[in-house]
Amino acid sequence: MSHEARADALEDYSIDQLDKAVAYAQQGGAQAQGGAEKYPTVAELEAQIETRNRRRGVGNLFVGGRDGNVRRLQKMPPKPTLVDFFKLRFAPANHVLQSATRALKTGMSEEVVLACLLHDTVHALMKTDHGWWGAQLYEPYVPEKTSFGIRYHQTLRFYADEEAGYEYPESYHRTFGVDYAPPPHIQAAYKFVRNHKWYMEPRLVTVNDLYSFDPNAVVSIEPFIDIIGRHFKQPKEGLGNDNSPVAHMWRTIANPDAPL
Ligand SMILES: [Fe+2]
Ligand SMILES: [Fe+2]
Repeated sequence: MSHEARADALEDYSIDQLDKAVAYAQQGGAQAQGGAEKYPTVAELEAQIETRNRRRGVGNLFVGGRDGNVRRLQKMPPKPTLVDFFKLRFAPANHVLQSATRALKTGMSEEVVLACLLHDTVHALMKTDHGWWGAQLYEPYVPEKTSFGIRYHQTLRFYADEEAGYEYPESYHRTFGVDYAPPPHIQAAYKFVRNHKWYMEPRLVTVNDLYSFDPNAVVSIEPFIDIIGRHFKQPKEGLGNDNSPVAHMWRTIANPDAPL
């Protein structure tokens, strides 16, 4: 792997980055690490903005791969289910599948397993403030504890909780800058959720999040089909066709090539 490719793969530990790392591992590439790393400052990261042809918060479906171009997407079935979206739009979804696998193995509640399974899938559409985007996308279809877990995992990622087994992630120094402080809306959300009776739902999402970046792990959606069946209210018309307040978000994920 070239130095630039390594830096790219390490840029942020998000779905697409892990997927790239998975691709490297499958090609027999060495997993990037080596030497002590000097983390950027917030100002240094801001200085990189105009070196890119995309903004860092843009959804994965809307940016090109390593060769610069996007790929033609497979057509969605007329009444798409959540599993169809996993297979045709979120794939390989390695990070969320690893998170949910860990949650399942450690005996967490089905609401938490489902939250782990879904927690970053909205990265396909949008990464900025993805806790809120993700919770909104799923709210009509999942238990309240699950959408609560999705919404606030983004916030709790910035706050350590030793007792729960969660440390501030080393990778965030790289992604946000070594001198980064969460903005006021994240600070306010933390205050709210820290004292909430469901604090542990998003906290457990972060606990599973932290250890879910093994590019060699083999995962699949199959172990979660039953949990999805029990807790995901699949609309009979298909996601995007059900006139719910978020149907347009599903249609956008299904057809990001629509010009307007
Ligand atoms: Fe996340
Ligand atoms: Fe995550």
